[in-house]
Amino acid sequence: MLLFMILFSFKLTNSISLKEENSYASVFPNSFLFGTASSSYQYEGAILSDGKGLSNWDIFTHNNGTILDGSNGDIAVDHYHLYRVDIDLMENLGVNSFRFSISWSRILPKGGYGNVNIAGINHYNDLIDRLLHKGIQPFVTLCHYDIPQELEERYGSWLSPEIQNEFEYYADVCFKYFGDRVKYWITINEPNIMAIRGYRTGIYPPSRCSVSFRHCREGDSEKEPLIAAHNMILSHAAAVSIYRTKYQNVQGGSIGIVMNAVWFEPFSDSAEDKSAAERTLSFYMNWFLDPIIHGKYPEEMHNILGSLLPVFVEKELEKLKFGLDFIGINHYTSFYSKDCIYSECGGGLGVSKSEGHSLWTPWKDGKLIGKSTAVDWLYVYPQGMEKIVTYIKDRYNNTPMFICENGLGDANNLDTSVAESLNDVERVEYMENHLDSLAKAIRNGADVRGYFAWSLLDNFEWTSGYTIRFGLHHVDYASLERIPRLSATWYKDFVSDVRGLQK
Ligand code: NOJ
Repeated sequence: MLLFMILFSFKLTNSISLKEENSYASVFPNSFLFGTASSSYQYEGAILSDGKGLSNWDIFTHNNGTILDGSNGDIAVDHYHLYRVDIDLMENLGVNSFRFSISWSRILPKGGYGNVNIAGINHYNDLIDRLLHKGIQPFVTLCHYDIPQELEERYGSWLSPEIQNEFEYYADVCFKYFGDRVKYWITINEPNIMAIRGYRTGIYPPSRCSVSFRHCREGDSEKEPLIAAHNMILSHAAAVSIYRTKYQNVQGGSIGIVMNAVWFEPFSDSAEDKSAAERTLSFYMNWFLDPIIHGKYPEEMHNILGSLLPVFVEKELEKLKFGLDFIGINHYTSFYSKDCIYSECGGGLGVSKSEGHSLWTPWKDGKLIGKSTAVDWLYVYPQGMEKIVTYIKDRYNNTPMFICENGLGDANNLDTSVAESLNDVERVEYMENHLDSLAKAIRNGADVRGYFAWSLLDNFEWTSGYTIRFGLHHVDYASLERIPRLSATWYKDFVSDVRGLQK
């Protein structure tokens, strides 16, 4: 017996230390979803297979100079053809959920109403069935940045209220065909990033911005992100209203939205910097969650933006009342936020009126908030996880939450050998520390029900192309071979240890 206990505890110390043993069992119960995340454009490839239409990202990446390494997602990691292989990898990890997105242009190649592409439906049906067969819950995003290009051309996509009807129709089709088996739906992934990068800085399609930069097309970057966001919020509401009225009673699933959730630490203890950090959170994230959950934009936005801020009319407020069932959180990084209303800031991220007059900076007293990484916006500050989750819990009355993405990117340097790439000690540390920080928030009462590592595989990292690798598995882009990294083995042990503790 003693020998057994020694062996047992030795196994545990591989990934979970003994002091955490009991507490992890209670914070990550059996029903907790552990998974990996992905998205259609970053993974699928198969740009024109089986009747798929072109998406805005298909077009955007083919314009010169938009993507750092000149690459695109035409093939990506060919998950469209290799999904069976990828499900085997997931089975080997022992995870019980997979987050993926449906490509709108595979289902409705030109957007619009009618003309459902059945080959696209069949593809996702098979993916869903095979996942379920292995005990892996599909966690499905309807829009992870990519939309049919036709919608862009027809009326400027998110700038037109017509997108709300388009999105509602598309969501309806997905609920109808997949909702008997999909129990977790996300309407939109990171609408805050789509609004900012698509309509303010212009580095994502449709490349709208006021100052010509790279491929920006002329726009009004004060108003347009606000209009686009307004339509995204109402598109979310339209999809939720269809789900609630037509499907949810019968299908019994839940539906939410996923925000990019940076933690903003006040630069100092001063009242000005504390309210600057609050303001940044409002202009960055609460901008979407407040209307959906509280029925109005944050107070700070009203105060600073005045009449620039769109108004919800009565009919829209009614729709907003459908709310959401859970908040999805993509958390990777933290910044300091410094007041620029009462203090002089000069220029920089966050300083403009439309960003809330607060400077985002990773620096304080010559030191970074956390370790810098190959990704220019990613600083390793694990405490940020506990802080952002607790903040969301408090502001939104402990609405159920899922960590829909968390992970670390490496540079894909030509001089990095595969062996080095596989030995991703830093990713393991990153995940271990962020999960530990998450556990603290849960112990203090946060209702978090799942964690998804970004990402199962290396993949197409938007404007960084293939220069950054986020995978638990290394992908050889020539052969498309997937090779598990140390982090895959670590995550597998972590999940199995947590599950073991529950028995
Ligand atoms: C969040 C996005 O949802 C995902 O598509 C992206 O690859 C990761 N962040 C890493 O940047």
